[in-house]
Amino acid sequence: MPIIIGFAGKGGVGKTTIAGILIRYLIEELKVAPVLAVDADPNSNLNEILGVNIHTTIGEARELLKKDVPTGMTKDVWFEYKVHEAIIEGKGFDLLVMGRPEGPGCYCAANALAKRSIESLKTNYPFVVADNEAGMEHLSRLVTQDLDHLYVISDPSPRGLLTGKRILELVKELRLNIKNWHIIVNMARESEEEKVRDLAVNRGFEVTGFVREDKILEKADTEGVSIFSISRESSAISDSYSIFAKTINAVHVK
Ligand SMILES: Nc1ncnc2c1ncn2[C@@H]1O[C@H](COP(=O)(O)OP(=O)(O)OP(=O)(O)O)[C@@H](O)[C@H]1O
Ligand SMILES: [Mg+2]
Repeated sequence: MPIIIGFAGKGGVGKTTIAGILIRYLIEELKVAPVLAVDADPNSNLNEILGVNIHTTIGEARELLKKDVPTGMTKDVWFEYKVHEAIIEGKGFDLLVMGRPEGPGCYCAANALAKRSIESLKTNYPFVVADNEAGMEHLSRLVTQDLDHLYVISDPSPRGLLTGKRILELVKELRLNIKNWHIIVNMARESEEEKVRDLAVNRGFEVTGFVREDKILEKADTEGVSIFSISRESSAISDSYSIFAKTINAVHVK
């Protein structure tokens, strides 16, 4: 069975960036390629961080299913074929972009089919990393479920930590099957780490680790450079790698 890892947190806190760094970590450090990367944010941009272009999405295939299934093919077979067609191949990873979520007038049969096809696809990979949209809706829509690890990303602000706490509460309330969860505080300054740790403890949880604000990453972002080309000198990369080594290595890799 694959190890499934998801991300959550409020808008702009670094979910996609840290998901990208995790994908690089799995390929580069744990050498578990190919990794299946799933972009479950309707406003997809994981592909940019990974340095690949999107040609089609699962949402588009789901729309086509409403009208265009060729005769002589069952919907299941056709959709599975479309899912394979939607895979974007990168170096060490495959990327699947979910695209638009089911809108009003949800075509539920198609969603069930999409879910089945993706579940079956996942079994071909040792690790699946899913980037999500901001907020908590993906949790209540049960997009994020049955995870081995959930990384909740927060900024160092009290409001960011409060969102982190609410996400964890919702996970419990919805009885989602999430085996391990971790809180990463991103874009923190070293001087504020102690204060943030205390604030988290007051809110009833512990910070798993900090990722510092990083000029190298900032520069790479403005230049549109992929996560794989960023120097290992980047503190965002080294801080994230230490957190992953602490949280993933020990559990899954001999
Ligand atoms: N540690 C860091 N140091 C400096 N810049 C960072 C750091 N982490 C993320 N950023 C920058 O912050 C911005 C937002 O990051 P990102 O897109 O990963 O956030 P997000 O949580 O996925 O946002 P959204 O909610 O819109 O999906 C990007 O420009 C990214 O380069
Ligand atoms: Mg994002």
